Amino acid sequence: MCGITGYIGYKEATPRLLAMLKKLEYRGYDSAGVATLCDGVLAVRKMKGPLSTLANALSTERMAGTLGVGHTRWATHGEPSDVNAHPHTDVSGRIAVVHNGIIENYAALKGFLQERGVAFRSDTDTEVVAHLLNYYYTRESGGGHNALLDATLKTVSKLEGSYSLGIVASDYPDRIIGARKDSPLIVGLGVGENYLASDVPALLSYTRDVCYLNERELAVLYRDRVALYNDSGERIVRQPTRVDWDVESAEKGGYAHFMLKEIHEQDKALSNTLGSRLRHSAGEAASIDFDEIRLDASWAAAKRVVIIACGTAYHAGVVGKYAFEHFARLAVEVDIASEYRYRNPLIDGGDIFIAISQSGETADTLAAMRQAKKGGGRILAITNTVGSTLSREADLVLYTRAGPEIAVASTKAFTTQLMCVYLLALRLGELRGTLSADDGKDTLRALANIPQQVRRILDKETALQKAAARRFSKRSVFFIGRLFDYATALESALKLKEISYTHSEAFAAGELKHGAIALVDKATLVVAIATQRPLFDKIISNIREVASRGAEVLVVTYEGERAFDAVANEIVAIPETRDALSPLLAIVPLQLFAYYCAVQKGNDPDKPRNLAKSVTVE
Ligand code: G6P
Repeated sequence: MCGITGYIGYKEATPRLLAMLKKLEYRGYDSAGVATLCDGVLAVRKMKGPLSTLANALSTERMAGTLGVGHTRWATHGEPSDVNAHPHTDVSGRIAVVHNGIIENYAALKGFLQERGVAFRSDTDTEVVAHLLNYYYTRESGGGHNALLDATLKTVSKLEGSYSLGIVASDYPDRIIGARKDSPLIVGLGVGENYLASDVPALLSYTRDVCYLNERELAVLYRDRVALYNDSGERIVRQPTRVDWDVESAEKGGYAHFMLKEIHEQDKALSNTLGSRLRHSAGEAASIDFDEIRLDASWAAAKRVVIIACGTAYHAGVVGKYAFEHFARLAVEVDIASEYRYRNPLIDGGDIFIAISQSGETADTLAAMRQAKKGGGRILAITNTVGSTLSREADLVLYTRAGPEIAVASTKAFTTQLMCVYLLALRLGELRGTLSADDGKDTLRALANIPQQVRRILDKETALQKAAARRFSKRSVFFIGRLFDYATALESALKLKEISYTHSEAFAAGELKHGAIALVDKATLVVAIATQRPLFDKIISNIREVASRGAEVLVVTYEGERAFDAVANEIVAIPETRDALSPLLAIVPLQLFAYYCAVQKGNDPDKPRNLAKSVTVE
């Protein structure tokens, strides 16, 4: 995700801001920028591309000043470009803002500001913050020592979503303001100088004394002191914390691996995916509104959906098959992109082609998408990467907003792809009249609950760690399930084999007896995923079949469900949800299980042998 840096002191700010940003490069970004203040003049320089491009430009055009803010942007609203890069300035050019997170109500705020004559320059959600600051600063605050802080308090009170902010203003050459909600922000304490950063690694070369901002807190950094405030503007006193991490573990936010960090980011990532797309009424999720795509009647009238993807994204497509059938009553074909491109597929202009890809650069997915396009198909892309080839070539794009995924084995990209697939299936169901209002509302409510339910699963991590410690040396692991659980089984088996190198397979549970059961013996672990309530009796029969051949059985089912007590060796419980949404939850413990099996075997889960994060060649 994006990175924020800030410096105020007695040395040149620009080299420090750039050096701090460099420490945040591992987070992934597509553009970078800095703003500094010198002799009352605010200077901003921002560019698409790597930090080195900006640093090169700044090596010849010196940006003076002993205070400023810096940013690396990872696009969520608007393509990666110079104009969309941060910092963003207000209309007067006297206030500059850097922002991490997503302002969910930016469209409404933009409308409010446009009605008051504000002209927007970028496609970002962040620009509204700069203009709102100006609005409150000039209209309501009336100048004075605390006017910028007052304007910030008013501005953040209007923001929905997540933010960490760094703010500088030419009227206040003695301070930087920081604010946070649902996105980290840390103050680094020096002597005669202070720092702001979104993540600890940026600070470690300068100081190890830090103050972590809590939810809805603000910080005003002066050269010789830092003042913290709550969102009512009251002062807070907090003792600094001493950081004793090394740089590498700091980049992983204290987690042993990026994969574990990304597994743990899923609740937050899923909230971002839902973001402004889930509209609430009377405090409850009530409807879906995609700000970035318009699904008109012609999309709703499609007769068929064709989903193309590779690897984990393909498994999101398998969930999509069940979801589109279930909610929108649409016929769905889901295809592995490398197969699709060499088939002689029937392409109909009325079909909807959905290409799913975390990177948006997978060679086979791009080739299949181009083939569908050439045949007259309409392409809707689900991707995590703004500005990727897929996003540029598709007709419509739905971004997963998971943030950069660094570990090769995909986790948060998968669950956010699922979330997009569900949102689409539900929206098409609404438009096609295949989803009753009550059913739609119930499902949306359940969807809105998913992020906090994911958090609950993650909080029970130790149980999965123990389950893995007892079973990591199994010769074979078979994942079985029916309907949506079969899709979860496919992804679970892939996760386990990718990083633990244990032989693992997924089977539609009903298919076991047509061959795979011949492989089952005492050395086999069977993981039965059981969340499809009408089919519990069927999966219990399948469990008995494998148990009677000596297999150990681990069952993933809902909390409080007793149906499997007599047949399971161990039960992994997930919070209850609608059966059709269960992959969003059921995959999470199995990601952890795969991760801990890999760790037990002494493998590096972040860098599995023979695999690449993005397969851009055939
Ligand atoms: C590689 C990665 C997988 C990923 C697949 C598709 O195989 O190792 O984790 O699922 O590519 O990648 P995409 O970027 O298209 O989702």
